Formats: sequence, C-alpha cells, structure tokens
Amino acid sequence: MKRIGVVGCGLMGSGIAQMSALNGYATTVVEINDEVLKKGIANIYDFLEKGKKRGKVTDEQIEAVKKNLSTATSLSALKDCDLVIEAVTENTDLKKKLFKDLSEITRPDCILATNTSSISITEIATVVKNPERMVGMHFFNPVPIMKLVEVIRGLATTDAVMAACREYALSIGKEPITCSDTPAFVVNKLLIPYLLDAVRMVQDGIATPEDVDKAMVHGCGYPMGPITLLDYVGLDTTCHAADVMYEEFREPKYAAPVLLRRMVQAGRWGRKSGRGFYSYEKK
Ligand code: 3HC
Repeated sequence: MKRIGVVGCGLMGSGIAQMSALNGYATTVVEINDEVLKKGIANIYDFLEKGKKRGKVTDEQIEAVKKNLSTATSLSALKDCDLVIEAVTENTDLKKKLFKDLSEITRPDCILATNTSSISITEIATVVKNPERMVGMHFFNPVPIMKLVEVIRGLATTDAVMAACREYALSIGKEPITCSDTPAFVVNKLLIPYLLDAVRMVQDGIATPEDVDKAMVHGCGYPMGPITLLDYVGLDTTCHAADVMYEEFREPKYAAPVLLRRMVQAGRWGRKSGRGFYSYEKK
C-alpha cells in the first residue's frame, strides 16, 4: 500500500490521517468544506507540537506529516488510493451513501474500511461494488496514542483484505486484533455496558460524577474514570453504540439510561460540544 485516503477529519479521522502520513504513506484527507478541514489539520499540528515538547515527536516526523499529508473537499481526490478509511459520524444511512460513492470513485481493488464503532460491516458492504474489499478498522481515541485497531471481517471480506489491513495497522505502529462482525466488536461490547452503568449510578443518585470517576481511577488504576471517558469519546457516540447493541441483543444492560439520552438531546455531547457531565467551555 502506498496511497491512503481518510474521509472525515474530526477526532478520529485526523488521528488516522496523522499516523498514516507520519509513517510514510501519501495520505489524502477529505472533509465537507475547507473550514472543517482547517480545524482538523490544526488539531494534528497542535498534537505534534505538544508531542515535540514532551520529547515524543521529532522534527523529522513533523516534516514527514507536512510532506505526505494533503487535503481535499471532494471524494474524487481518492480515486488512486489503495486503502480508504472512513471516519464520519455514526449514521448508517450517511455511511452507506458515502461507501456507494466511494465504491464508484475508487479502483475496484481499493480496500474500503470503516472506522465505525458499532454499525455492521456486512450491511455497509451491501452498497459496495466488490463487497469482498469492505472491512472494519476500528481505531481508539486518542488515535495517535491508543495502540489498538480492531480489524473486523464482514461476511464477504477476504483473507487477503484482512491480512493487508493488519499489515497496514502494524506499519503505523498499532496492535491489530481480528474479530467478526458482531455489534460493538470486542472493546465496546465490554466498555459500553460499563459506561452505561456509570451513568445509571449518577442518574440514581448513588454517587456524583466526580466520585464515580475517582472510584475507578483510584480503586482500579484506570487512566480515566468512566464519566470523564464518556465526555472524552462523546455521549452521542456512546448512546448510538448502545442503541445499536440494544436493537441487536435486546439485553437490558445495553439500554441507554434516560439521563444519557436527555443529555444527548440537549447537545451535551462531552468535550466536542464544550459540555457533557463536565464543562469544557473556555473561560
Ligand atoms: N504526542 C505524542 N505522545 C503523547 C502526546 C503527544 N501530543 N501526548 C501524550 N503523549 C504520550 C505521553 O508521552 C505518554 O507516553 P508514555 O506512556 O510512553 O509516557 C502517553 O501518551 C500518555 O500521556 P499522559 O500520561 O501524559 O497523558 P494523560 O495522563 O493525560 O493520558 C490518555 C491521556 C492517554 C488519553 C489516558 O487518559 C487514557 O488512556 N485514557 C483512556 C482512553 C481510552 O480508554 N480510550 C478509548 C476510548 S473508546 C474508543 O475510542 C472507541 C470508540 O468507539 C468509543
């Protein structure tokens, strides 16, 4: 693989584009307009500069990103890519429309990957020409730091596509695992019920968000408490993943608590919207 396309330059897409460019791939990231692109690219260089101050990122790596990363506002810029990774909002219709377009624009052998955290790879593949090239590549937030990539096999995905995606993940410094196309895959199947239980505790007045967080940080050594983590990954993303899991499994542990849904309805999505359980508004 030489040319990588990334669709979406938000939290996840910008991290994926950064890691691809930093590791020598000619990477094109596509967004809906220049304003969104500018914000995503600024986040990449901000992260790299902070990394440099910590002694974790070298000038050569920053130069590699500058050299290898390009931007576009049209999917046609991805026509020569070997692998395209989509990281747009978790919405099945939106993703299907996008992959239908991508499958027409890209070469027939271009691997099409989705960074979905819960939507079925097999369902998205129904709109793709040559569905054997459709695969899941689920990254974790913050992408440049979290090592894991879940490589998810849809019903049609070939061994060759799975192997190529694992190889690519390794080449950008990640640890791939392989799993089948089951809602929420491995991490979120374990993580989402834990986050929902934390919200239920706050909702039922058992403990404050601060104390729920302290409990898991100081009691179990987790780097972040569940409420902070919810704000970090996004309440909207978590609620959507819970809904998909509940729809599929019909188990109460996957049912989104009322408080979570109300907060999503109120636009309190966490860090990305400036307010979740905690406030991130600049004073
Ligand atoms: N550039 C390079 N390296 C950096 C960096 C930067 N800008 N910023 C931090 N780092 C490095 C640090 O040097 C450190 O490396 P080290 O362990 O080798 O010393 C490491 O990253 C962690 O940095 P810190 O300990 O200073 O940072 P924090 O204490 O603030 O930790 C965190 C931040 C890594 C986000 C940590 O809190 C954490 O791991 N939280 C949990 C995150 C998590 O669970 N993510 C998964 C969410 S689920 C998901 O994404 C799936 C979705 O589908 C829902």
